[in-house]
Amino acid sequence: MAVERQKAAPRGLEGVVAAATAICSVSDNFLQYRGYRIEELAGKAEYEEVAFLLLNGDLPNRTELRDFKAELTKHRTLSPFLRGILQEMSETGTGMDVLRTVVSASAAEDPGEGDNSREAEYAKAIRLTAKLPTILATYIRRRRGEQPVPPDPTLGHAANFVKMAGLDANPKAAEILNTCFILQAEHGLNASTFAARIAAATLADMHAAVTAGLGALKGPLHGGATDGTMKMLDEIGTPERVETWVQKAIASKYKFSGFGHRVYKTEDPRAKFLRKFAMDLAKDWKGPKYFEIQERLAAEIARQRPTMSPAAAEKVNVVNVDYYAATTYTFLGIPADLGTSIFAVGRMAGWCAHIMEQHSDNRLIRPESEYTGPTGKRWVPLAER
Ligand SMILES: CC(C)(COP(=O)(O)OP(=O)(O)OC[C@H]1O[C@@H](n2cnc3c(N)ncnc32)[C@H](O)[C@@H]1OP(=O)(O)O)[C@@H](O)C(=O)NCCC(=O)NCCS
Repeated sequence: MAVERQKAAPRGLEGVVAAATAICSVSDNFLQYRGYRIEELAGKAEYEEVAFLLLNGDLPNRTELRDFKAELTKHRTLSPFLRGILQEMSETGTGMDVLRTVVSASAAEDPGEGDNSREAEYAKAIRLTAKLPTILATYIRRRRGEQPVPPDPTLGHAANFVKMAGLDANPKAAEILNTCFILQAEHGLNASTFAARIAAATLADMHAAVTAGLGALKGPLHGGATDGTMKMLDEIGTPERVETWVQKAIASKYKFSGFGHRVYKTEDPRAKFLRKFAMDLAKDWKGPKYFEIQERLAAEIARQRPTMSPAAAEKVNVVNVDYYAATTYTFLGIPADLGTSIFAVGRMAGWCAHIMEQHSDNRLIRPESEYTGPTGKRWVPLAER
């Protein structure tokens, strides 16, 4: 079939529909996973149920959930090979670099490596989903100079992470993180999922595609905004400094982490859940007044919006998922530079579901580019250049 050459797509592919999917739909103030709005799942479901939903198309019944959880339990433990890499990397590697590297390395010992059949990919999705919290928790312990705490077969996904990472000081930590993982589990054709689908569309295997997704998630315009939010709040320091800080930030065209979204124009439907968590957790927090700072910051950005360019003013109208996720995680005792890594733990099920969907009806994703460089140049021998 001859394809007509089109003019260049909008910058950043804004408004371009680049894939068909039955997994998730996202539009302003609207997010649904396989037909369930996020409000139906957050605060009600267990992460395992949502992971099953994303991978299989509907919520599990009791037997399906029991079997799914049993499979996750079977695969939480890390091999000596992966623990060795973690040990080596924990001294200097950042959280996202460690997650990406250990996930990538886990391909080397995966029994289904190179097998892109649905059955093999489903098993790999479970293994990857099961292992990521253990990888992150082991890294957190290593950084503190502690021995890893092995997974507990009696505990579920979020509770296991809490125990392994030593976050049990707050009795609600598992419940809160369970909902956070659900809120972060899936989000349509966001940058990391698109990256994963592009890798998958070459018929590269699930580990390669998830590794691509982890690479894309790291950046501050995507998941990296969670860590960016904490850096920004630390830079501001106190609620009293917010007003002048915002003035200077707008003047220097600073990008406020946790504000703006490509799809949401008025509201990110996940943010309200996270704001509530952050507000409740702030009451027992003894450190810097992060929640007060961020509340004042949001109000001040709204007040000073008229001084921004129209495009920027439109963007900062939306407080996105990362803004209150950052403080929620910090208040739970998670180091401020590891919020993006927590995001990755939640997103694993979504990435795997998209990779399986891509492989189930695959065509190489290979757009063209519009050449803007020079032409007709002639070779000049080295001595004459
Ligand atoms: C999310 C994001 C990447 C979407 O980007 P986008 O749709 O490509 O929008 P653009 O980067 O083209 O921004 C358009 C304008 O708004 C401005 N803008 C966008 N987000 C902004 C923010 N958070 N703070 C200040 N200005 C912002 C841009 O500087 C640009 O201004 P200009 O036209 O005057 O140069 C962007 O809003 C952003 O960088 N946000 C901060 C990082 C973040 O929180 N990411 C997590 C997203 S879930």
